[in-house]
Amino acid sequence: MDVGFIGTGSMGGMLVRSLVRHGALAPEQVWAANRTPEKLEALRAAVPGIHTAPTATVSTCPVVFLCVKPGDTRAALAEMEPALRADQLLILLSNLVPIAGVEEQVPCRVAKVIPSLTQEAGCGIALVMYGRRVTPGDRRWLEGLLAAISRPVVIQESQGRTCADLTSCGPAFLACVLQELALAASRQQPDLPPELATAMVRETVLATARLLEAGMDFDGIIRRVAVPGGVTAAGLAVLAEQIPGTWEQLLAATRRREENAPAPV
Ligand SMILES: NC(=O)c1ccc[n+]([C@@H]2O[C@H](COP(=O)([O-])OP(=O)(O)OC[C@H]3O[C@@H](n4cnc5c(N)ncnc54)[C@H](OP(=O)(O)O)[C@@H]3O)[C@@H](O)[C@H]2O)c1
Repeated sequence: MDVGFIGTGSMGGMLVRSLVRHGALAPEQVWAANRTPEKLEALRAAVPGIHTAPTATVSTCPVVFLCVKPGDTRAALAEMEPALRADQLLILLSNLVPIAGVEEQVPCRVAKVIPSLTQEAGCGIALVMYGRRVTPGDRRWLEGLLAAISRPVVIQESQGRTCADLTSCGPAFLACVLQELALAASRQQPDLPPELATAMVRETVLATARLLEAGMDFDGIIRRVAVPGGVTAAGLAVLAEQIPGTWEQLLAATRRREENAPAPV
């Protein structure tokens, strides 16, 4: 089955590269469109064999991923609309674009996937949400496709913001926290260059992920490292005081930002 990708920026490009690299789609099944041709050409060079075409042509595929920024959704849908039919599955990528709002405008079945940059490495969670016209066959197909590059988790659309903070924004939040740990260490110990501190944090996080993969949970890791009254426990006490409030502020800030965003459709 042909699969269309409208928008080959960060997420559209990543999905095409990763789905083809992991064998979920053959290059010749992929039809891609992008507003500026340079990005499209770069993707075709990176993934030989895919088809590139105007948005209106790609919109005729049986399945179409709409991978444009929320602010470009209205214009993209206007370009796509003449081609859209009831027997197609349209997949949105943005929490800001409500499935029901798009269902009112188009005849096709509508679903939503919130991918994560981690799918570039063929792992991490892809959030999946379904509109009311989606069939059991659509669900099987979409979750099967995503399973090649992620662990698909089906959620309610109302859970999208919080879950996306964990899975989709999560890599950036964790990267920022880890980078700050390395920078603080090299400020406190000026003869420890930031590059070396960063390399140490990087290796520690990769190794901690291996422990999690091996079945240890967060509490188990903390218990094994922290001796009561010891130095790790002293550090954990600082985190216990400051981190819950920081994360709550962060979750409130992303929610506020989403609620105040202009309606995209
Ligand atoms: N970035 C993330 O980590 C992430 C994670 C989860 C979900 N998302 C969601 O994924 C969606 C895409 O985000 P992104 O980060 O991939 O944005 P992006 O890098 O800006 O990519 C969007 C692409 O859409 C193209 N485009 C815009 N209008 C078009 C049209 N009418 N026809 C064809 N192509 C069109 C743009 O072309 P130009 O080359 O002209 O700009 C651009 O290449 C957004 O809704 C975002 O919320 C992003």
